[in-house]
Amino acid sequence: MRLSQQNVSFSDEELDIRSPKLVPLITYPHYSECEYKDRIIEMESLGITSIILGGGGGKTIINSAHVAGKGCVGIVVKSKVGSKVCALKIRRTDADRKTMDNEARLHKMANSAGVGPILEGHTKNLIAMEYVSGQSIIDWAGNNNKATKSKVRTVATAVLEQCFSLDAAGLDHGELSRLARHVIVSDRPYIIDFESASTTRKTCNVTAAAQSIFLYGIVANKIKKILGNTDREKTIIHALRNYKHFHTRANFDAVLDLLL
Ligand SMILES: Nc1ncnc2c1ncn2[C@@H]1O[C@H](COP(=O)(O)OP(=O)(O)OP(=O)(O)O)[C@@H](O)[C@H]1O
Ligand SMILES: [Mg+2]
Repeated sequence: MRLSQQNVSFSDEELDIRSPKLVPLITYPHYSECEYKDRIIEMESLGITSIILGGGGGKTIINSAHVAGKGCVGIVVKSKVGSKVCALKIRRTDADRKTMDNEARLHKMANSAGVGPILEGHTKNLIAMEYVSGQSIIDWAGNNNKATKSKVRTVATAVLEQCFSLDAAGLDHGELSRLARHVIVSDRPYIIDFESASTTRKTCNVTAAAQSIFLYGIVANKIKKILGNTDREKTIIHALRNYKHFHTRANFDAVLDLLL
């Protein structure tokens, strides 16, 4: 399979789920007839009628098809349930898990805390959820027209508030130190991908996301430049240490104050 990321735009193409063009995506990266047939039946059980490829369907390209995204666990495609658009995460045939059951369970918990795209339904190999039309936070932060100082504050506050809700719910996302891959900014930011989440680990959503926003890595580098306060590392570390010890609203507000 050839995979590349390009900023080209093709018109959308809505295909019936049985279209031959979709076969390599539905069973990515290894085709087997049995797996393919199972997945078609699962799509039908979720009411998925078509899949949309093309520029509006995402900018990741697999075998010359534009999809919404690709990770180690799944291929995400824009799809339709009747007239309703949704995102469909299809388990990769080489994923290190046999089903999407655990991810769906944790995703539902996140939704109960008011976080994440709304989960619409799931089967062994599929998760159907609200489609988030936007850019990854790293691309968004690199777009000078969108990421003004005040919008960065609004988006960062919203991400941290969602993290605070996850902390309060006892659900640790687990990958928020890799914020660039786990936040899509639309009309508001959405935290995605709950496959590595846990209800037993100590929750560190706020601290992991805040470090990615204020301190280390590619998102922080962009945000620090936009906010223009590059010499506050000690203050930030102090506020995060306090919050880490006691997840109180007052300690969290002190973290949010760093955005002012
Ligand atoms: N609800 C959604 N709406 C739109 N695009 C989405 C949605 N969920 C995921 N995506 C896109 O698909 C990509 C892969 O999704 P996701 O992170 O859930 O897969 P993964 O296999 O678990 O990835 P990783 O290996 O990074 O953990 C995301 O980076 C994002 O670009
Ligand atoms: Mg993942």
